[in-house]
Amino acid sequence: MSPKPFTHRGAAPYKPVDWTGLYPPVLPKGKVPAHVAIVMDGNGRWANKRGQTRIEGHRAGEAALLDVVAGAIQAGVKHLSVFAFSTENWTRSPDEVRFLMGFNRDVLHRRRDQLNEWGVRVRWSGRKPRLWGSVIKELQYAEQLTAGNDVLTLTMCVNYGGRVELVDAMRAIGEDIAAGNLKPSAVTEKLIRRRLYQPDMPDVDLFIRSSGEQRMSNFLLWESAYAEFVFLDTLWPDFSREDLWRAIGIYLDRDRRFGGAVDAPEIPAL
Ligand code: IPE
Ligand code: IPE
Ligand code: MG
Repeated sequence: MSPKPFTHRGAAPYKPVDWTGLYPPVLPKGKVPAHVAIVMDGNGRWANKRGQTRIEGHRAGEAALLDVVAGAIQAGVKHLSVFAFSTENWTRSPDEVRFLMGFNRDVLHRRRDQLNEWGVRVRWSGRKPRLWGSVIKELQYAEQLTAGNDVLTLTMCVNYGGRVELVDAMRAIGEDIAAGNLKPSAVTEKLIRRRLYQPDMPDVDLFIRSSGEQRMSNFLLWESAYAEFVFLDTLWPDFSREDLWRAIGIYLDRDRRFGGAVDAPEIPAL
């Protein structure tokens, strides 16, 4: 399956990124987080609060994702990684799992031309086993279609787990060592990084989770070693580009030290 070249179908079929008329605050040059990771959480609670079933919450989350991608482009973020389905989410009811699989496939199908139009490069991070073939096909199609784009890299983390990503990397390294192609002393952080699902993915600068939960839930463990964490109470279907910009604002007020230290004694007030 090779992607068809992009064709602009008819009059203004796509929204420009600033269709809402909202613009990000002026952000200091060179300080915008290059890589933002988001745990899109709270869909089920959003729906249940309205007397609806959980899947209605997932449905409502689609618009939030599109809005946040557009807002990330406006803010100058280069990498956005979103958690769409975790390796632990298979423990949910068969109905919800089935819905989420079909939904991920359909969202990719519905939105890929719009993302392509915005210059978004779509990538998939995750594991093949158990993942529906039709979801993998859509992910791979979107990857091929958008391979030449460089405005923003959107990594869809589907059937992704941080620990299993490391397990897969360790296995590949182990096999190379067993085959005599690699010395144990050559195993470095850099080498491990190259065996992750997306070797080119930079470290996460800003890790956002919606819905008020304050945990990683196995998302981008290696990549987030020095990320700044921002937890917002907004449930994912209510999340918008303005929440993203708010999180970036909180991030900009943080002091990232990476283990270093600067001596700056304060002069006591008289
Ligand atoms: C996040 O929302 C979406 C997925 C995990 C696929 P949830 O479905 O986890 O919603 P809550 O956390 O139960 O409200
Ligand atoms: C993390 O959210 C996974 C996704 C957002 C896809 P969960 O809702 O599955 O995480 P827990 O169960 O609250 O830790
Ligand atoms: Mg949840």
